[in-house]
Amino acid sequence: MKIKNICCIGAGYVGGPTMAVIAQKCPEINVTVVDINAERIAAWNDEDVENIPIYEPGLSDIVKEARGRNLFFSTDVDGAIDKAEMIFISVNTPTKTYGIGKGMAADLKFIELCARQIARVSKNDKIVVEKSTLPVRTAEALKNILDNTGNGVNYQILSNPEFLAEGTAVQDLQNPDRILIGGDIDTEEGLDAMQALVDVYAHWVPNENILTTNVWSSELSKLTANAFLAQRISSINAMSELCEKTGADVNEVAKAVGMDSRIGPKFLQSSVGFGGSCFQKDILNLVYISKSFGLNEVADYWEQVIIMNDHQKRRFASNMVKTLYNTVSGKKIAILGWAFKKDTNDTRESAAIYVSDYLLNEQAEIVIYDPKVTSEQIFSDLEYLGTHSSEEIRERVKVVNTAHDACKDAHAVTILTEWDEFKDLDWQAVYDDMLKPAFLFDGRRLLDRSTKEKIGFEFYAIGN
Ligand code: UDX
Ligand code: ADP
Repeated sequence: MKIKNICCIGAGYVGGPTMAVIAQKCPEINVTVVDINAERIAAWNDEDVENIPIYEPGLSDIVKEARGRNLFFSTDVDGAIDKAEMIFISVNTPTKTYGIGKGMAADLKFIELCARQIARVSKNDKIVVEKSTLPVRTAEALKNILDNTGNGVNYQILSNPEFLAEGTAVQDLQNPDRILIGGDIDTEEGLDAMQALVDVYAHWVPNENILTTNVWSSELSKLTANAFLAQRISSINAMSELCEKTGADVNEVAKAVGMDSRIGPKFLQSSVGFGGSCFQKDILNLVYISKSFGLNEVADYWEQVIIMNDHQKRRFASNMVKTLYNTVSGKKIAILGWAFKKDTNDTRESAAIYVSDYLLNEQAEIVIYDPKVTSEQIFSDLEYLGTHSSEEIRERVKVVNTAHDACKDAHAVTILTEWDEFKDLDWQAVYDDMLKPAFLFDGRRLLDRSTKEKIGFEFYAIGN
């Protein structure tokens, strides 16, 4: 089966970049990305490609190349479903904030709504591809809904987990380590559907890098990969605390450990804690699934990765308070960086949110600068936590347009996202404009200690 029309439901951090690259690499396939959020679609269609809603290095150029040729953004969900032979579901699956599994299980209501919409609209056979991160066995639920509410058309469900990391999405999509496709390997229709998706990726990915598995292995592999990655960060972050007590330096430890080829150097960068839409959600998911099978030890094992991460964020914030003579009440604290990592405007689960919340509890005055995150997003992140009223947040928190402005008259500055521009700030000028003693807390190990201490900063860095 040759795919001519692809529809992707969800124009977010996953759907947008993934479809842009598929359209770029497969000029003979029409790719339509749809979303119920009209504002988001309008931004994707903005004449100036610098205004697309997602900041990802290299993405604007690809959109410029393919948009209007074979890449389209639209709010006409029904129309795009109807036309497509293959439908990707890339809607959000946040952790549930209510009911059974609250705070742990993934909320599948958006997925289910998509399934019902596909079932209602489809008049011919469709291949439905799960692209969002989903708990194991979601494919089965999807199939159930489609088969029982549809118009008698046949559906093949594939799992095709996304391994792109934000900030490097374009590069990850263009040169993926592997593409994973799970499907019904026991039927010819299942194998055909998998081959159709293999053919899409084969436009640019070598065959040996495209793996096909049964659907459950594919779903579970995604959760496992993220759990392993997050576990490495929690492991090195655990060591960072021990380093601070013993006089070891976590960067030196990470380097020495990472040079063991069995361990490898990646994902050993100690930080104020991992964030992002995937790690915490996927591990909580794993914990929830394990518990639901009565596997309490398995659940506890993985939950510890989250506990360590929460501890790291809290520890960083409480160390700031302790260092500032046990009080930050009424003190101005500058926060540099709000995104969960550099080169993205995504703030989901960013450590900055939790550190700021802690400082707000201690009645600090916070001034924030991030090169790509809007002030509305910052206020909405803080309000979403529900720990402080909107009025209090707007009274105590300011968002400014330059790093230097944030640091003026501050008692302390903290780096929470590793944006390159913070490395090259005129730190002498920052120091001159701060209150003394001027404290600098590096939550990302971005800055060089000796030059900062020479300027006069009281310098604290994670794991050092
Ligand atoms: C992750 C996975 O890497 C990706 O494969 C999956 O598809 C989605 O989840 P993402 O969350 O976009 O990607 O970014 P990632 O680079 O993994 O970083 C996650 C968090 O860990 C960030 O807050 C980052 O700053 C932090 N991190 C990463 C560290 O603290 N130390 C490291 O060594 C690496
Ligand atoms: P991700 O990081 O998984 O891509 P995002 O939140 O960035 O998550 O994007 C998910 C997108 O899916 C949002 O823009 C949201 O509006 C969209 N969406 C959710 N449910 C539906 C639906 N039923 N139909 C169309 N779009 C949807």
